[in-house]
Amino acid sequence: MKYINKKLTIEKVSVQNIAKKYSTPTYCYSYNQLKENINNFKKNFKSFSPLICFAIKSNTNVNLIREIKKFGLGADVVSMGELMIALKAGINPKKIVFSGVGKTSQEISYAIDKNILLINAESKSEIKEIDRIAKLKKKQIQIGIRLNPNTDAKTLTQISTGKKENKFGVNNKTFFELVTYCKNSKNIDLKCLSVHIGSQILDHKPYEKMLKAVSKIINKINHKFEFIDLGGGMGISYRDNNKKLNYKKYNVAIKKFLKNKKSRIIFEPGRSIVGNIGILISRIIYIKKSVRKNFVILDTAMNDLMRPALYGATHKTLPSIKTNKKSKKTYEFVGPICESTDKFITIKNFQELKEKDLIVICDVGAYGMSLSSNYNVRPKAIELLIKGSKIKTIRKRQKHKDLM
Ligand code: LLP
Repeated sequence: MKYINKKLTIEKVSVQNIAKKYSTPTYCYSYNQLKENINNFKKNFKSFSPLICFAIKSNTNVNLIREIKKFGLGADVVSMGELMIALKAGINPKKIVFSGVGKTSQEISYAIDKNILLINAESKSEIKEIDRIAKLKKKQIQIGIRLNPNTDAKTLTQISTGKKENKFGVNNKTFFELVTYCKNSKNIDLKCLSVHIGSQILDHKPYEKMLKAVSKIINKINHKFEFIDLGGGMGISYRDNNKKLNYKKYNVAIKKFLKNKKSRIIFEPGRSIVGNIGILISRIIYIKKSVRKNFVILDTAMNDLMRPALYGATHKTLPSIKTNKKSKKTYEFVGPICESTDKFITIKNFQELKEKDLIVICDVGAYGMSLSSNYNVRPKAIELLIKGSKIKTIRKRQKHKDLM
C-alpha cells in the first residue's frame, strides 16, 4: 500500500475508487502481499520443510483460504465450523490439525469422520472421549497432546497462552501420564507433541525457552513423536518502528532443537500470513468538537474491528488523500456504537480532516473480520480481494434484511 499522487492505493487501485464503487466500511486484502508473506515464511524455514497450517481463526473468509490453499498450506482449526470452512476451501484433510481446549463429542466425531491429520488434545478427559468415540467407530486416531510449557510469551496477557495459569495444554506431570494412557489404547496413535505460547510475539527468546522445555520433556519420554507442532504466534509490525519477530533467530533455535530428532515441525501461523494484507476503509460521518477533543466519528465501529476495544490494540490510521494543508490537529477516531470503548486511536498532528473524508485503518487482515459481530444490529462489511488492478468481492456486504 502506498500513496501515488497523494492518493492511497492498495496494489493498483485507489482507496477512493474502491469506496465509490463498494461503499464503506470495506475490508480489502492484497493478494500480492499474501503471496509475499507465504513465500517469505516458507523461505525462512525451508531447511526443515515444516507443514504450515494456516490458523483459520485469524481470517475465516473461505475464498481467501482457497487462495492460501493454492500455496500448499494446511489448516489449524478450533471448531467444527472452522473445520467445515477449511474443507470447503479444499484444504487436504491430511494437512489439518484440530486444536482447542473444549472440543465437543460432536466435533470430535466429525473430525474423525473427515480423517484429518491430528486432533491435538488438551486434557485427560478429552483423550478419553476421543478414545471412546474411536472405539465406537472402530478406528485408530492420530492425536497430539498439547503441552503447557509454562513459558511467558512476553505479549499482551489477553493473548498469552503458555503460562501455567492459562487454561491451555497440560503440565509435564499430566503429559507423562497421558503418554502412558495413549500407549495402552488400541484406538489412539500418539503422533504429536504440540505447544502454542501466545500471539503477537515479537521476541524470539520466549520461543527458545519453549523449545528448551519441549526438549526436556521429550528426553524424559521413551516415545517417538512424528510431529512437533510449535503453534503460531509470530508477531508482525503494527507500528512504524518495524519491530516484528526475527524469523532467522527462531529458525536457528528450531534447527538446534531438531538435532538428533526425526520429527517434522508443524506451524500454525495466522497473523504473520494475513495480518498486513488487510485494510479497512471507513468514511467520516461527523467531526465533533468538544471542549478538549476533536472526535472523528467513523462509519466503522468496534463491531467491525474489535482489537482496539478488546486489547487496547492500535492500528496505523491514514487519510485516503494526503493534503498540503499546513494545519494539523489531534484527532480521536471513534465509531458510532454506544460504548466508550468504541474508539480506535488518538493521533496527534494529523492533517486537517473534513466530514465525508475517507480514513484507512491498516493491518486488519488477521482477527479483523473474524472477530467482527452484529452488535447494535450493524450489518457486517464487504470483503474484497485486490490483485493488481482487479477487484474481486470475496464476501458480500450484509444487508439489514439478513439480520431481521
Ligand atoms: N494456534 C493456536 C492453538 C492458537 O490458539 C492461535 C491463536 C494460533 C495458532 C494463531 O496465532 P497467530 O499466529 O495468529 O498469532 N484475537 C487476538 C489473537 C488471538 C490468538 C488466539 N490464538 C488478536 O486479535 O490479537
